[in-house]
Amino acid sequence: MTELTVSVAIKARRSTRSYKNEPIPHALLEEVLRPACMAPSAKNGQPWRVTVLQGARLEAFRAAVVAAFESGKTGSFGASAGSLRSMRGGRSLQKAFAPAMEAAGVSPAELIRRSIVFFDAPAVALVSLDEADLPRGLVDAGLFVSHLCLAAQGLGLDSCIAGYVRIVEGAVSDFLNWGKGRRLILGVALGYGAGEPIDGFKSPREPFDETVEWEE
Ligand SMILES: Cc1cc2nc3c(=O)[nH]c(=O)nc-3n(C[C@H](O)[C@H](O)[C@H](O)COP(=O)(O)O)c2cc1C
Repeated sequence: MTELTVSVAIKARRSTRSYKNEPIPHALLEEVLRPACMAPSAKNGQPWRVTVLQGARLEAFRAAVVAAFESGKTGSFGASAGSLRSMRGGRSLQKAFAPAMEAAGVSPAELIRRSIVFFDAPAVALVSLDEADLPRGLVDAGLFVSHLCLAAQGLGLDSCIAGYVRIVEGAVSDFLNWGKGRRLILGVALGYGAGEPIDGFKSPREPFDETVEWEE
């Protein structure tokens, strides 16, 4: 396939929440991850680490996080619905997003459940930081994830960032034998979109003129 330009990839990217059962060649994932590692970071600290799961290992991961979720071994997400309301775009997002999900038959609880299993995508990238790099490494990790999603889009792969996975951080950390001090920040589902009803909605954006302030 032809690689998309950056601006075309930016416009094409959206959070994809249904995936075809089609594995991603290792070489293609590597082609996505290498430019992601070119993301900028404060003082070039590159604090991120990324763990890529596929195949049987990903299925075992899913079983482990679902078991933790169902037995209530969950922690806090760190950004409740309440705090979302204080975000500038939060209100319009909630207004449009939740009803669209409900219409597709996905309740808020179901969205969390599907998020922690990364919507059954064929590959998952988990981005982690050393605790010592918190909180300042969060910006760098965000830039890494953004680069990752756009690089994926450019090479024909859909993606969805899943922050909800943090509620099962303990199970993730145990599964990957991370030990103390390594924190899960975000996960990214990667694959080929299946176009199910859950993906029938395009998240709106705040009006451009209310977002960009010109001083010239
Ligand atoms: C930090 C972060 C965490 C997110 N976590 C989730 C998640 O757990 N589940 C989910 O379905 N979407 C998640 N999203 C996707 C957002 O809902 C999505 O980016 C937003 O609604 C804009 O839609 P778009 O990505 O389709 O443009 C997350 C996005 C970000 C940036």
